[in-house]
Amino acid sequence: MIALGCDHGGYNLLGEIRAMLDGKGLEYRDFGAFSEESCDYPDFARAVAESVASGGAERGILVCSTGIGMSVAANKVRGVRAALCGDCFSAEMTRRHNDANILCLGARVTGAGLALKIAEIFLETPFDGGRHARRVAKITEMEL
Ligand code: RB5
Repeated sequence: MIALGCDHGGYNLLGEIRAMLDGKGLEYRDFGAFSEESCDYPDFARAVAESVASGGAERGILVCSTGIGMSVAANKVRGVRAALCGDCFSAEMTRRHNDANILCLGARVTGAGLALKIAEIFLETPFDGGRHARRVAKITEMEL
């Protein structure tokens, strides 16, 4: 299950991401926002981050105008490793090396075609483990 969230700035792009997930038959839960009416991105970052951190969702995708606010907010939740990605290489590497569990996208920064490719790569790429597991464990230790 993939947890989805956006604010008004990310609403349209998240719609395209939902359509991509539908096309692949991937299950998701959309935590809103459900319109382009102005709203507060931390509310949706928190809902998605808590869903991922609790194990309710394996991954999350958050979209706001820049992706920055969503990533800052989501990373406040213990167990979350949210990565703001604007290119395919970063999306691949943050899965392989950081075991990132939430992808953040900036709808005013990254075009829809690229954003969908980034999301696909994020969802399909496994964690490399090995020495990267030791490094991720050190990040987790910082939360204690
Ligand atoms: C909303 O205007 C904007 O601040 C938000 O979408 C996001 O970019 C915050 O980081």
